[in-house]
Amino acid sequence: MIKKISTSELRIGMFIDDLECEWDKHPFMNKKISVSDSQVIQKIASAGIRYALIDTALGSDVDDIADANSTETAANYAPSVEASIEVDRARALYREATTVIRNMMEDARLGKQVQVNALEPVAERMVQSAMRNHHALTSVTRIKTKDEYTFMHCVSVAGLMTTFAREQGLDDETIHQVALGGLVHDIGKTLVPDKVLNKPGKLEGDEFSVMKRHVDYSGELLAGLGLSQIAIDVTMQHHERMDGTGYPLKLSGEQISHIGQMSAIVDVYDALTSVRVYKSAWEPTQTLKKLIEWSPGHFNRDLVQHFIRCLGIYPMGSLVELESGLLGIVIEASEDMLRPKLRIIYNAKYDRYERPHDIDMVKAKNDRIINAALPAQYKIDLAAFL
Ligand SMILES: [Fe+2]
Repeated sequence: MIKKISTSELRIGMFIDDLECEWDKHPFMNKKISVSDSQVIQKIASAGIRYALIDTALGSDVDDIADANSTETAANYAPSVEASIEVDRARALYREATTVIRNMMEDARLGKQVQVNALEPVAERMVQSAMRNHHALTSVTRIKTKDEYTFMHCVSVAGLMTTFAREQGLDDETIHQVALGGLVHDIGKTLVPDKVLNKPGKLEGDEFSVMKRHVDYSGELLAGLGLSQIAIDVTMQHHERMDGTGYPLKLSGEQISHIGQMSAIVDVYDALTSVRVYKSAWEPTQTLKKLIEWSPGHFNRDLVQHFIRCLGIYPMGSLVELESGLLGIVIEASEDMLRPKLRIIYNAKYDRYERPHDIDMVKAKNDRIINAALPAQYKIDLAAFL
């Protein structure tokens, strides 16, 4: 019998009849493959392929496998592509996704029907990117421009949510829906008057009430479009808080779904680490500390800690200071969260730029990271180096 399964369910002993992917993405000479060792599963994961058709007459079925040697799943093998390679793809995806979101929000503003189908391929590519290297998407989320913030924030939240969901071992379909939810989560902002949405200062009482309506507007714009409950939860619950002080429904604790609790953390993290018309970007490490400080009142503390493990203590794209006075951008995480790979760009001792060069802190014997650094303090435009 031919059976369609997620590639995360692939096990040694199965026989693949076909893989759901384009020929140019196909990592084998032939699509009919006996899964004889873990490298076969690894190659499929590297190619970002999500579904396989298995022939249960020629190999094992999903339910058959109880062998301890067969517990290696595709999901266990990431990152299967180096961050430096995946970051280029993620950056291109981020740009394309921003255009798709901008068009979608413009349509919504003009009263046209929102085409959520157009977002499916974007969400799918995010899932595949996270499968290949779970750090790449998170590293490009900091590239934002003030005037495009609303669109870019949607894409960033989708990218961070995808990575967060993947790190928690949620299944592929859930991760896809989480990505979709992130992409549409602030669509209602398109109906908020521009003078409130882009006010170059803190919102006053009435203005804040107007801004808060964006969640209800999102609900109205997306109603009847067949979105999953997961995507709806990201959209409708990302401003709810564990202590009931959020909006729009003032839900508290377990009234907020697991996905809703995740989205609240991600939404705040991305907003704070972004440059806005009224504030500079917070540094990621400082922001993570604040998230801990604000939980459990605002956030699920366990989930915040999980999010920190997911991003690393020094998240990709953040600036750090070394004992030697050199400043570097985190370009790749390592098993040791305190020793990521860095691109050195500046020398704080002499107040001058360095010729950019990469250092693996695991191998650096004579230097160590002493702190997260603030790009604004050194007038460094990080986006130019990412
Ligand atoms: Fe929002």
